[in-house]
Formats: sequence, structure tokens, C-alpha cells
Amino acid sequence: MTTQLLSKSLNDYAESFTTKESPALARLNRETHLKIDLPIMLSGHLQGAVLSMLSHMIKPRRVLEIGTYTGYSAICLAQGLTDDGLLHTIDMNEEIEAMAFRYFCEAGLEKKISQHIGKAASIIPRLDEEFELVFIDADKQGYSQYYDLVFDKVCVGGYILADNVFYDGEVILPEEDRSKNAKAIHDFNEKVKNDHRVEHVLLPIRDGIMMIRKMTT
Ligand SMILES: C[S@@+](CC[C@H](N)C(=O)[O-])C[C@H]1O[C@@H](n2cnc3c(N)ncnc32)[C@H](O)[C@@H]1O
Repeated sequence: MTTQLLSKSLNDYAESFTTKESPALARLNRETHLKIDLPIMLSGHLQGAVLSMLSHMIKPRRVLEIGTYTGYSAICLAQGLTDDGLLHTIDMNEEIEAMAFRYFCEAGLEKKISQHIGKAASIIPRLDEEFELVFIDADKQGYSQYYDLVFDKVCVGGYILADNVFYDGEVILPEEDRSKNAKAIHDFNEKVKNDHRVEHVLLPIRDGIMMIRKMTT
């Protein structure tokens, strides 16, 4: 999950012309890199700013995130919530729950973010909400199932975003050379492409973000 579509210098240039990370996000980014396994999973400055910008454009009342990790993308997505808005975020790793919560407090968003610990497939059906925005960023083999589980909970005109849809560039390898995860991601991309209820665009940002708009039930 490290696809660098832009050269490092162009990526640095893009970041330098992107609103600076807030102090809380910069500290979270640094602490994740210093202390937590697989910091590459964190959305980071550029993608985080894109998520924040999209959230401000959509102004959602309810957001669902699948894959909290240390909370970076949750903070970015929560920034565009309405005053009475709430973001539900799910992760099965309870070891990083407290760290994420500490940063939700630092960002002043602890009342707007509800953390759920457990497997996404069992938590999603229990959420009695209608979402304007969903961000899928957990285990890659679960993407298609999560898409099906959330679809009826997304309002018409609402959005589903899915991260890592290039899977480090593996999706364009010959089928026999793709890993299991890359196959699952490619199948997810095909599923979205063949779903006539939605419009979609694959944004070539970082490791690829599939942006989906629900047109009809
Ligand atoms: C790529 S990270 C999320 C990164 C985060 N959205 C960000 O941008 O900072 C994926 C997370 O999904 C969680 N995860 C993996 N499988 C899961 C499952 N079946 N249910 C819930 N969470 C899961 C992992 O524990 C991990 O923290």
C-alpha cells in the first residue's frame, strides 16, 4: 500500500501547496510513525486534506468509517460534519483505541466521533443510521461485503469512498501475479463498475480512492 504515483519531489510540492496539517494531526502522524506497526496505513497529509475537503463539500450529518487505525482519517472526515453531525468509526484493534481517542480529544472532536471496536461485518448491521458519507479502509478482502452491507444505509445522493483501490499498483498485473488482496480489490472495482445504481470515479491519489455516488436504491 505504498504506491507513489507522483515522484517524491512532486508529492512534496503538492503537500507544500496544501493547507498545513493541524498541530494535532502532525503530532498524530509523528506518534504513529514512531510507535505503531505499519504507519504506512495512515492516510497522511495530502490524502487527509482531500478527505477533509470532500467532507466540507458534502457537509454530512452522519459519516461511517470502516478502519480507524490511529484516527487520522476520522479526524479529517469529521471536520466537515454539520453541527449536529456524528462520525461512527470501526476498528477491530483495541490496542490503538485509546491513542485514537486521545487525538480525537486533541482535535476537539471527541463528541463528534463514536468509536466501535470489533469486526466491521458484525458492527455495520447494528448501526441504525443513514449515512451521507462512508469511507471503506479496512481489510481489503472485506471491501465487497462492506459495500453491500452499507449500501442500503447510504442515502440517495450520498457517497462511498474506498481507499487503496490500486493496491500498490498490483491491480494492473496479470491476474496470476496478483496477490489475494489485489484480486479482492480488483473484484471490488469491477463490482462498482457494474453497479448501475451508482456513478463513480477512481481518483489517482496516493494508492487510489474510488469515489462512488449513490444515484438510486
Ligand atoms: C489502513 S488502516 C486504516 C487507516 C485509517 N483509515 C487512516 O487513514 O488513518 C486499516 C485498519 O482496519 C482495521 N481492520 C482490519 N480488518 C478489520 C475488520 N475486519 N473489522 C474492523 N477493522 C478492521 C485494522 O485494524 C486497521 O487499523
